[in-house]
Amino acid sequence: MARTMQWLVAAASVAQVLASPHGLVRRQNSLPIENCPGYKATNVQQTSQGLTADLTLAGPACNTYGQDIETLKLEITQETGNRLHVQIYDADENVYQVPESVLPRPGADGNVSSTTSQLVFKIVNDPFSFAVSRRSGGEALFNTTGAELVFQSQYLRLRTQLPENPNLYGLGEHSDPFQLNTTNYTRTLWSRDAYSVPGGTNLYGNHPVYFDHRGADGTHGVFLLNSNGMDIKINNTAETGQYLEYNTIGGIVDLYFLAGPSPTEVSKQYAEVVGLPAEMPYWGFGFHQCRYGYRDVYEVAAVVANYSTAKIPLEVMWTDIDYMDSRHVFTTDPERFPLEKMRELVSTLHARQQSYIVMVDPAVAYYNYSAFNNGVEANAFLKRSNGSIYQGVVWPGVTAFPDWFANGTQEYWNNEFTTFFNADTGVDIDALWIDMNEASNFCTWPCSDPFGYAAANGYPPTPPAVRADAGYPIPGFPADFQPSSGGRKVKRQSSNTTSHLGLPGRNLIDPPYTINNAAGSLSNRTIDTDLYHENGLAMYDTHNLYGTMMSSVSRDAMLARRPTRRPMVITRSTFAGAGHHVGHWLGDNVAGWPWYRVSIAQMLEFAAIFQLPMVGSDVCGYAGNTWPELCARWATLGAFYPFYRNHAEVGSVNHEFYRWNLTTVAAQRAIDTRYRLLDYLYTAFHEQTVSGKPLIQPLFFVYPEDSNTFPIEHQFFWGDSILVSPVVDDNSTSVTFYLPDDIFYDYFTYEPERGTGNWVTRNNVDFTEITAHIRGGSIIPLRQNSANTTTELRKQDFVLIIAPDLEGKAEGTLYLDEGDAIEQPQTSLITFSYANGTFSMGGSFGYPTDANVVSLTVLGQGSNMTTPAHKRDSSVVVDAKRQMITKKLSVPLTESFVTPLCQECEA
Ligand SMILES: *[C@@H]1O[C@H](CO)[C@@H](O)[C@H](O)[C@H]1NC(C)=O
Ligand SMILES: *[C@@H]1O[C@H](CO)[C@@H](O)[C@H](O)[C@H]1NC(C)=O
Ligand SMILES: *[C@@H]1O[C@H](CO)[C@@H](O)[C@H](O)[C@H]1NC(C)=O
Ligand SMILES: *[C@@H]1O[C@H](CO)[C@@H](O)[C@H](O)[C@H]1NC(C)=O
Ligand SMILES: *[C@@H]1O[C@H](CO)[C@@H](O)[C@H](O)[C@H]1NC(C)=O
Ligand SMILES: *[C@@H]1O[C@H](CO)[C@@H](O)[C@H](O)[C@H]1NC(C)=O
Ligand SMILES: *[C@@H]1O[C@H](CO)[C@@H](O)[C@H](O)[C@H]1NC(C)=O
Ligand SMILES: *[C@@H]1O[C@H](CO)[C@@H](O)[C@H](O)[C@H]1NC(C)=O
Repeated sequence: MARTMQWLVAAASVAQVLASPHGLVRRQNSLPIENCPGYKATNVQQTSQGLTADLTLAGPACNTYGQDIETLKLEITQETGNRLHVQIYDADENVYQVPESVLPRPGADGNVSSTTSQLVFKIVNDPFSFAVSRRSGGEALFNTTGAELVFQSQYLRLRTQLPENPNLYGLGEHSDPFQLNTTNYTRTLWSRDAYSVPGGTNLYGNHPVYFDHRGADGTHGVFLLNSNGMDIKINNTAETGQYLEYNTIGGIVDLYFLAGPSPTEVSKQYAEVVGLPAEMPYWGFGFHQCRYGYRDVYEVAAVVANYSTAKIPLEVMWTDIDYMDSRHVFTTDPERFPLEKMRELVSTLHARQQSYIVMVDPAVAYYNYSAFNNGVEANAFLKRSNGSIYQGVVWPGVTAFPDWFANGTQEYWNNEFTTFFNADTGVDIDALWIDMNEASNFCTWPCSDPFGYAAANGYPPTPPAVRADAGYPIPGFPADFQPSSGGRKVKRQSSNTTSHLGLPGRNLIDPPYTINNAAGSLSNRTIDTDLYHENGLAMYDTHNLYGTMMSSVSRDAMLARRPTRRPMVITRSTFAGAGHHVGHWLGDNVAGWPWYRVSIAQMLEFAAIFQLPMVGSDVCGYAGNTWPELCARWATLGAFYPFYRNHAEVGSVNHEFYRWNLTTVAAQRAIDTRYRLLDYLYTAFHEQTVSGKPLIQPLFFVYPEDSNTFPIEHQFFWGDSILVSPVVDDNSTSVTFYLPDDIFYDYFTYEPERGTGNWVTRNNVDFTEITAHIRGGSIIPLRQNSANTTTELRKQDFVLIIAPDLEGKAEGTLYLDEGDAIEQPQTSLITFSYANGTFSMGGSFGYPTDANVVSLTVLGQGSNMTTPAHKRDSSVVVDAKRQMITKKLSVPLTESFVTPLCQECEA
């Protein structure tokens, strides 16, 4: 019965397409894609920076998935010496394009000529095809010859040949191998609430960019700026050879080619297109604790206290949707999380130098309360064509969803934030967590009875029983948090797109080309794709932007309430360029070794390829029950995520690090390691926000000509200098890791280890330990001591570890600033170098700090141990066992400095 109804609805919308008056050819002689005629280029004009041409359909339309567009425009622009932009769009400019308001385009340099750029393009007029190659060496990077371009009203196909066995990375969000499969592989891009992040499916976000690494021949990137649902197919067949093929259900061909030629340069060039990542506050790199299912404000306080008791530094406490009144955003549960207790919780945390974060979902309860009523008044909610507010079902039951493109939405959102998160009267959060923004809708399409669905499925869920107090003392918290404290007072931007609005007359619910969406039909379990935003864009075209738009609107709302401080916003759904606004946690993973392992590949994707470096997965696993060995390992791995948060689902076993001795010890060690390195991490992160150079790098970024590194996805470089090689096998205490042909030093023992381009096995790696190496050629600034909070950490002195390369040289940098303000009046960017036995320090010294450098340690000095003392600096102490020399000193980080350590140290 329901099926028939669905069919009727679908049939009705097809009828609309057929009756469409907008000049589209009637869909009568629909033919398979293989019969499509392709296009012919005419009016080909060389321009100062590229080429333009008209493309006309080269034969009878095949109208496979909607109507063929008869006339297209081709526009090729050399935007910079290493970036080529290729656009193919409908001559009438009706076809939807990603709005500039969501992703501003970088534009062209102005003085790049077609003869000096690194990339050359070539077009073939009839049948039309184009190719992009490197000027130097002539290597073809992209070549569409052999498969006709198909440009229909609801389908776009573009295929490029690739060399055999290409090394491809990117095209997320996914949990497949970091190095992409090259045969029979489909990557679907369509934002989805993807519980357990299954492989081979579309996940939360969309990043249609890939890196193609060709070893000594260089690396290039290809970014398709298109937000429509798509299947990208990578395959190798007898007839066609190796190829990559875009199949989108709308939008235009909008390709950016990035010349590299090194992987790092491709990353930087991609950042020039989508924007540099947002700077994050220093404290944001501290350790975070979260859980869905903390029953009340007392339990939250108790967790904070338990961390202190266990002597595990906790920087940031989080609360999931539990704090809301019946899951209504912008409310607090008056009995379990009463506002005045929330305020006291936050002020207590602040007094302890700790921070607080809560979750906000986009869906607003369809219910008579201020956040809903204000949204109605501001016209901020998505509407159906009859003007009624569109209803879905999320945590609070029936909900409305903000229309991020509506004129009134930013101001509405700002007002909710300045009121609810008011520092003087509300919940004074330090940063923000946004979730469910794919957008997730529990009600399956067509969701004809949202109230019935919510009631039948128990939304909102019944909250836990109310407690008057925790029933036990909570050390470090005010009297109001202690048993029998009594007195529980209960208190009750817009885009102005004028063209590119999208073709009329399309089937926005069941398009004729079906992408491989793991949720079924396009609108299933999300917002209906046939809704129109206030500005006329269709959800069919903008679905993949919803999370990123919530991100930038929420970031701006955080700025509106606190204009001078860096907003830290952590989101689930992202689109290309999201890193410019927010960070990302990797969604609802599971407590199991496969998720522990895949988190490394996903971190590499986001930090190194997608320019979204504030990233990490739920440490110990979100869903299911973790156990001490897994959780301990994860504590040590998570300490090397840029974003380090322990999180668990309601109903799963509690896994705060203090729950087991093993995880307590692992977390203490891991946090100690991370915190001593926090300025090294902060420096690498800052560098990425300035230049796009990734702070987390796959091994091939550092050793691009070593083909053994190309598939490696369980090791990574943390910054330029630290190679992390976690144990990855289930319940194992041994690790087999790759050491490139170079000199390394064990991070923890400082012993030199000469890499030979081979795999090395190490046994007896305790569950509280992780394997890491310093790459020769590095100088690492470490805080001399860790601390309980990052505020205290910032007062500690520095020690420098000098790890010479094979020529006896090393260098490093240290960035210092105040850590939280957007405008930094004073910063330091200090450079360290070591050569010929002499250490020197230079660069800029604007930031005032009392922290000094108190020692210099040079590793790998085996042959210098015999250097007579008179040839060494007399204050240098030899540690023969660890083959290192250390000089104690006290040098301020406010001026240049040079010192010899060893007069005749050998190279
Ligand atoms: C593109 O591929 C075709 C067919 O394989 C080939 O003839 C042509 O030379 C290639 N173009 C470039 C620029 O490599
Ligand atoms: C990738 O390819 C290999 C073999 O070529 C196959 O075993 C594996 O299942 C594929 N993975 C995915 C995610 O398609
Ligand atoms: C890859 O090609 C094979 C052989 O033609 C075909 O059976 C398969 O469906 C293709 N896979 C994809 C993902 O296109
Ligand atoms: C391609 O992959 C699909 C699904 O992943 C699988 O069903 C099919 O058998 C594979 N085809 C080939 C030719 O490997
Ligand atoms: C939104 O703002 C634009 C520009 O100010 C205006 O033209 C448009 O009419 C507004 N739309 C609505 C629905 O108010
Ligand atoms: C409309 O868009 C144009 C071009 O992007 C911009 O210059 C203008 O300020 C926008 N107007 C409004 C009201 O947002
Ligand atoms: C919607 O998703 C549910 C599972 O969540 C599935 O059972 C159903 O078949 C899907 N419906 C459509 C129309 O894809
Ligand atoms: C706690 O774990 C550490 C590391 O595994 C171990 O050395 C120590 O003996 C354990 N302590 C207790 C009390 O079990």
